[in-house]
Amino acid sequence: MNIQKPRLHTVMIAVSAAIMGLTSACNSGSNDTGSVTKDYNYYKKEAESMLANMSTSEKLDVVSGPGMNFGSVKASDTVNLSSDVSGVAGHINGVKNDKLDIPAVKLADGPAGLRISSTRDGESGTYYATAWPIGSLLASTWNPSLVEEVGKATGEEVKEYGVDILLAPGMNIQRNPLNGRNFEYYSEDPLLTGKIGASMVNGVESNGVGATIKHFFGNESETDRYYINNIGDPRTFREIYMRGFQIAVDESQPMAIMTSYNKINGTYVNHRRDVLSDILRDEWGFHGLVMSDWFAGNLTIPFQPVIPVATDAYAQLKARNNLIEPGGQKDNLQASVDNGELTIPELNENVVDILTQVQQTPSFSHYAYSNNPDLNAHAVLARKAGAEGMVLLKNKDVALPIAKTSKIATFGVNQVNTYKGGTGSGDVHAAYTVSIADGMANKFTLNTSLIDFYTNYFDSTKTSKSIFGGSINVCPEAAITGNQTMLDLLNTAATDDDVAVISIGRISGEAADRTNGQADTITASAAGDYQLSTNELDMITSVSNAFHDKGKKVVVVLNVAGVVDTASWAGKVDGILLAYMGGQDTGNEIADILSGDVNPSGKLAQTFPATYSDVPSSTTFPGEDVNGDGVLDDIKYNEGIYVGYRYYNTFGKSVAYPFGYGLSYTTFGIEGAAVSSNTLDKGATGSLTLTATVSNTGSVAGKEVAQVYINAPEVKLKKPEIELKAFDKTDELATGASQKLTFNIPAKLLASFDPDNNQWIVEPGTYKAYISNSSDVSGIEPVTFAVSKEIIVSNTTPGAMALPAGVSTSDFVTVSE
Ligand code: BGC
Repeated sequence: MNIQKPRLHTVMIAVSAAIMGLTSACNSGSNDTGSVTKDYNYYKKEAESMLANMSTSEKLDVVSGPGMNFGSVKASDTVNLSSDVSGVAGHINGVKNDKLDIPAVKLADGPAGLRISSTRDGESGTYYATAWPIGSLLASTWNPSLVEEVGKATGEEVKEYGVDILLAPGMNIQRNPLNGRNFEYYSEDPLLTGKIGASMVNGVESNGVGATIKHFFGNESETDRYYINNIGDPRTFREIYMRGFQIAVDESQPMAIMTSYNKINGTYVNHRRDVLSDILRDEWGFHGLVMSDWFAGNLTIPFQPVIPVATDAYAQLKARNNLIEPGGQKDNLQASVDNGELTIPELNENVVDILTQVQQTPSFSHYAYSNNPDLNAHAVLARKAGAEGMVLLKNKDVALPIAKTSKIATFGVNQVNTYKGGTGSGDVHAAYTVSIADGMANKFTLNTSLIDFYTNYFDSTKTSKSIFGGSINVCPEAAITGNQTMLDLLNTAATDDDVAVISIGRISGEAADRTNGQADTITASAAGDYQLSTNELDMITSVSNAFHDKGKKVVVVLNVAGVVDTASWAGKVDGILLAYMGGQDTGNEIADILSGDVNPSGKLAQTFPATYSDVPSSTTFPGEDVNGDGVLDDIKYNEGIYVGYRYYNTFGKSVAYPFGYGLSYTTFGIEGAAVSSNTLDKGATGSLTLTATVSNTGSVAGKEVAQVYINAPEVKLKKPEIELKAFDKTDELATGASQKLTFNIPAKLLASFDPDNNQWIVEPGTYKAYISNSSDVSGIEPVTFAVSKEIIVSNTTPGAMALPAGVSTSDFVTVSE
């Protein structure tokens, strides 16, 4: 795991000191003309020489952002900010003195695209950004190169709008379907999360701007997120919740990482030196800067109802959480320096980590941004990525695709109140959102009476609901049974139209989790609920009965922020498309799939359970109010490593739709699975290579994802039945065409964490590899390979993230093989 991946830039330096942001006096010779390899060590040395010219006060400016205007809390002026960008989330202060001229750096969200203000006071110009498909939808593409393209385009917007570091991607694990921020995250699986996250970072950073993987780690719920304490065993954290971040560090060396709000085994992540220095930097080789989440770690001033405001900002710096955001902690930190809580060497270490990265930002090189990114090209890419991620869950008797000559009856208020993405910092100010009704109208003849009905109904029924950072319009579904207008419309539609398309919507967002309730009270309760509401279920039943009576098909489109119940109603309809939230072109992407212009190739990045109570964390989510003060204290990760399909497959639980599943309009065969090379006897540097051939055996062109699941021997360690260890997606294969795919699994990705010996190990014995098109590997003949003796892949920090005193793994973990 100790692979060091410095960003290497070999450049001809023929620039003036002013362009470098330094005065000649402190430029340590870098204004000489010559060829210099600008790697991590180069920038670190430069940062160390800057340090020599900074006062303690200036250093404190760098490690604590300027703060944020929030209620009674007021921000200071950002130091050395030349041209701000309206709507950014925060800054890193610069330095300006006789010897140094380091510009301030701008940080902006977020996971579905750049979140800046789209308009500015006194200006007629607009600053729209592309609203990309949400993280879960991008992950469902299982296509890292496409995600890298999305990252590249996102990074162009970051750069051309004058921002330096994007606060994305979000890489927490979808431990439970009800996390309100699951839409920002990729998957329940760490390998998929890590691979997709690394691709996003590589794409964004190819523009010379930074990306921030977040929220490291354990922010898998939103309720009382500022102080919740995650209790779990170190193996669980390492194998599931940190693993995606580790892969992203290994494969993309991001400029920044954002720590999470929560505690781990009693201590805030941003106070944990074992996590932020020993593991992140020493074990994994991370070179970037570490920033806190906004107001995290006993500093949650605007939001903090419970814990009195503390003055322990210094604890973050001691742990090497370099940058406190949005900041405003200078006075606290100065007091800590004065009373010896924070030493100057400790402060220096953090300043160097930050300035090493600041030198690589566009602001530092005074990049003349255009405010004119290529939004048109990005819109085309966003639509392509969204359609490629959408997952066809059901297609009974070829209900889909729908012929473009068909007349379609569209039901559900969500067709006009379509969600492009979730709320909070993962929102984007895009120029437009194409609703499902509009997207469908671009391809099909629609029943306009129904659309008029839903448009008027929405306009007259919607209410504004305040949410974290703003408000949204919500509207319960219209009743059909007992509503004569709707009954008449339905009867006419079933007679006149050819097919029904029902849209169901769910939105969720930051600072609130969803609930396992029925969404009847959606106007008043949590934004988004797991069960369908009475009216939604009635709509599905009524429309299905009416259309099926006439021998016509019914399709449901799920425009949702996360997993919802399907088991209770899926049997009533012919087709189900999981559209998630496709960004600004959501409606067009749905129409692309329903019409067959795009053959679906998305695969689930998370399991759809048969019922919520089957979710292994259903009894512990979102946490426990231990002391009865009305605020959640602890959340026990006591299902251990058995998260998502690792649980369902190991314990034989049937699910509604398994992880990795998704239908196509064609059929595929995966054949000839074989081990083409096994160098695992080389030990930690060895790897396994498998190949298989995917053939399009159906009648239209399409793409397929082949997934490699490994069943590993259990010597010292219990293991899930299967774990995803590699995957690949074919190109678009014409009917009858085949493609041979190659899967390389290095020892480090095969390894499990041995907590007794603090090591990542590959255990000896016979392994089975299933090359499958979903995590349902029943019926697949595995190929086998052997590991002759235990491989120690790496040694790790002893005692890191230890359980609280008095708690041992055996008395705490509830699910084990
Ligand atoms: C969120 C982060 C976000 C930050 C800045 C926090 O509330 O948790 O994801 O980047 O705000 O907007």
